[in-house]
Amino acid sequence: MLTTLALSQRNTKYKKILEARNKILASFPFFMIKKTLLAILLFVSNINFSIADIESGKKVFNKCKSCHSIKQEKNKLGPHLVKIFGRKAGSIENFKYSSALKDSGIIWSEETLKGYLANPRKYIPGTKMSFAGIKNTDQLNHLIEYLKKDSN
Ligand code: HEC
Repeated sequence: MLTTLALSQRNTKYKKILEARNKILASFPFFMIKKTLLAILLFVSNINFSIADIESGKKVFNKCKSCHSIKQEKNKLGPHLVKIFGRKAGSIENFKYSSALKDSGIIWSEETLKGYLANPRKYIPGTKMSFAGIKNTDQLNHLIEYLKKDSN
């Protein structure tokens, strides 16, 4: 009598543990799927954002186009901008730079490009690039995204 009672008690305990385990197992895949879906959604919307940024940056580049080519190593009124990231300022041979730019010691990066393009004459006094600068930070950021994409 006593042993049967003990046994059935142990059984209910075991059942409860099993139930709990099944519950966790049942909810686990949903939990995973939810997370995965969310990650995919975030990823896709991020891609959309950056595509939109690059597109609007491309429009900003219309301001530069008359003087700079970005896809061909061909100088216009200004030097070409192929592989501009990591390039030393004033380093395109056969382009006649101002000595201000040539001697600036600047390496073009996201940061230095933003500084120069926001206000060329303030960033490098004596530069001969006649461009007023881009004051709008969104436009400037988008332009940089575009340069990253097309200058390689
Ligand atoms: C009116 C013509 C003109 C316009 C417009 C213009 N630039 Fe320039 N750019 C130049 C000239 C000229 C230089 C050389 C400056 C110097 O020697 O001081 C130059 C230099 C540069 C450099 C340095 C390149 C190097 O080899 O070190 C970068 C980067 C640059 N321009 C980017 C831009 C971007 C981006 C725009 C548009 C937002 C733009 N420029 C608009 C004429 C222009």
